[in-house]
Amino acid sequence: MNATATTRPRLLLVYGGHPGGRTDQLQAAVQAGARTVAPAIDLMVRRALDCGPAELLEATGILLGTPEHFGYMSGALKDFFDRTYYPTEGRLQGRPYALFVSAGNDGTGAIRSVERIVTGCGWVAIAPPLLVTGDPDEGALERARELGGLMAAGLDAGIF
Ligand SMILES: Cc1cc2nc3c(=O)[nH]c(=O)nc-3n(C[C@H](O)[C@H](O)[C@H](O)COP(=O)(O)O)c2cc1C
Repeated sequence: MNATATTRPRLLLVYGGHPGGRTDQLQAAVQAGARTVAPAIDLMVRRALDCGPAELLEATGILLGTPEHFGYMSGALKDFFDRTYYPTEGRLQGRPYALFVSAGNDGTGAIRSVERIVTGCGWVAIAPPLLVTGDPDEGALERARELGGLMAAGLDAGIF
């Protein structure tokens, strides 16, 4: 067993982007969705620069958020992967994850860059990536809430 010794599922939400920015808005909605659907879930929320291998190893599910920067994930999320790759190598296979991306007008490069890494780590997507271009409108925030709710519900029910 790689995850936490506690029996409660633990959902890690880790994200990059500017404080108060669009990814921040999306992560707040993802968080709200998770808490609404599964109020008792153990939800750990971390900015990518403040998150390390210990948090990752304790997670039974992972939500990743990033803006697109220069056709790639944000430097903060990349730094998170750089710092956690070796300490967690081979220990996170099958971990359920979902990704949300905020972009100006594209976002596909950010998605590709994250998927390439997490696929290599053996993580399993529970939903297609959520891509939001421009300012998140109510529809985008609702989709973010649904994504958080889906992950939380699945973990809570032991489906993922
Ligand atoms: C340095 C930098 C590079 C960016 N590169 C891209 C890009 O390659 N493609 C794109 O669609 N948007 C790009 N953008 C726009 C951001 O992805 C977009 O504004 C995003 O919503 C910002 O999220 P945030 O407010 O959470 O930081 C870039 C923004 C910055 C600051």
